[in-house]
Amino acid sequence: MLKKKNFIMLVLLILIGALLFYTGKISQKPRIELYPPGVVPERIMLTWNDSVYNTQTVTWRTDSTVHVGCAEIAPAAESAEEITDIKRITAHTRTYSSEVNTANYHTAKFTGLKPGTQYVYRVGDGKTWSEWFQFTTANKEAKDFSFLYYGDVQEGIKQHGSRVIRKGYASCPNAAFMLFAGDMVDHPYDNDFGEFFYAGDWLFASTPIIALAGNHEYKRNVPGGLGDIWKYQFNFPQNGPEGLKSTVYYIDYQGVRIIVLDTEGMKHLPGTFNKQSEWLESVLRNNPNQWTIVAMHHPVFSNSGGRDNPRVRKHLKPIFDKYNVDLVLEGHDHSYGRTEFKGSDGHEGPVYVITNAGPKMYDLGFTPQMKRLASRTQLYQVIDVTHNSIHFSSYTATGKLYDAFMLNKASNGKKTLVNQIPSNEPERVGLSKLLRDRFSKKQIEEYNKKVKERTGKD
Ligand SMILES: [Fe+2]
Repeated sequence: MLKKKNFIMLVLLILIGALLFYTGKISQKPRIELYPPGVVPERIMLTWNDSVYNTQTVTWRTDSTVHVGCAEIAPAAESAEEITDIKRITAHTRTYSSEVNTANYHTAKFTGLKPGTQYVYRVGDGKTWSEWFQFTTANKEAKDFSFLYYGDVQEGIKQHGSRVIRKGYASCPNAAFMLFAGDMVDHPYDNDFGEFFYAGDWLFASTPIIALAGNHEYKRNVPGGLGDIWKYQFNFPQNGPEGLKSTVYYIDYQGVRIIVLDTEGMKHLPGTFNKQSEWLESVLRNNPNQWTIVAMHHPVFSNSGGRDNPRVRKHLKPIFDKYNVDLVLEGHDHSYGRTEFKGSDGHEGPVYVITNAGPKMYDLGFTPQMKRLASRTQLYQVIDVTHNSIHFSSYTATGKLYDAFMLNKASNGKKTLVNQIPSNEPERVGLSKLLRDRFSKKQIEEYNKKVKERTGKD
């Protein structure tokens, strides 16, 4: 029998341990290295940190014995012997020690490229090389194109997120870029990014990535502490507001301005709501593009229970409305929700979309603005842009069309939206098994009541 004093000590120790674990003071950091770097280049990723029609940036990782990096590029050709006129560029190399290893991150920027042109490139150290990859530069002027949009991958990235990323690519192999709306990883640790790059592998080396930082790209319990790997691996334009240049930026691509915001940074860094709002207004005020798309992690209209973001809505929605933003691509809620561009009061605004690529699932809040909903569904999105229309299609992990709409814009700027929701795909609004197990009987009853209100079915 434990003496009373020992028992109290034991309870205290358990409580302190639980508190430290919860607050992250006892680190959940992995201690085993699952994805070690080697001398062969890996984690090869295309991004832009400059104009999309005549530059391309590539970043890759090696172990710390590889002190130099270089990249070679040539116009794409029909056979290996025809790959000529090869230019070699020296990379900028930086060393980073994560919680499990030390690696060198190499970044090379190809410049002076011809618009609308296919190139081949490889990366290495002059002796050990990657394979030759292919990419195509953007056109300088507005032109039709398609891109892929993914929500949170976050958990089970390798096990369950990978097939969604790959199915998206298979559906749209000529996508101009892949846009990830944050929470690509659960923790900004090396092992998590190892899974992300395992899932994307050569796709990320062939199709440029536009990514934004969600709350999980930030260190837990370090408010405003962006994970370090982000700074080494992801190279985006430095055209954002001071102090937020690595996570807030815009890219103009063939008639579309894509604006990336950092809603997690807004929550934690002093003054960043104002800083991002002012910057957002400035890039919307001086925008020569036909279309404007904003990508951000925390939704303006939350889609899952108890996850409202009133400050995000208060600060950003009036600006989106004022400057006629067309589409807002979001994540965070681990469910799917899509609005129309007119509210019930007739007020026009952007179409808001929340989506989810990974296996982590939350319940639905049945937010009235949502035209189409899904819970417990992994999805990817293909977005086709022309001068007069944006055609948006959302597919399930197996490739079934789940939601679609056409947003048309007349020459006078007037917009119309045509829903194309497939009539043979009922809304998937049930609770995931995890939540059925976690919810109380009363919570399940309340949820089922909302399902019945929405669908007319039990
Ligand atoms: Fe999130």
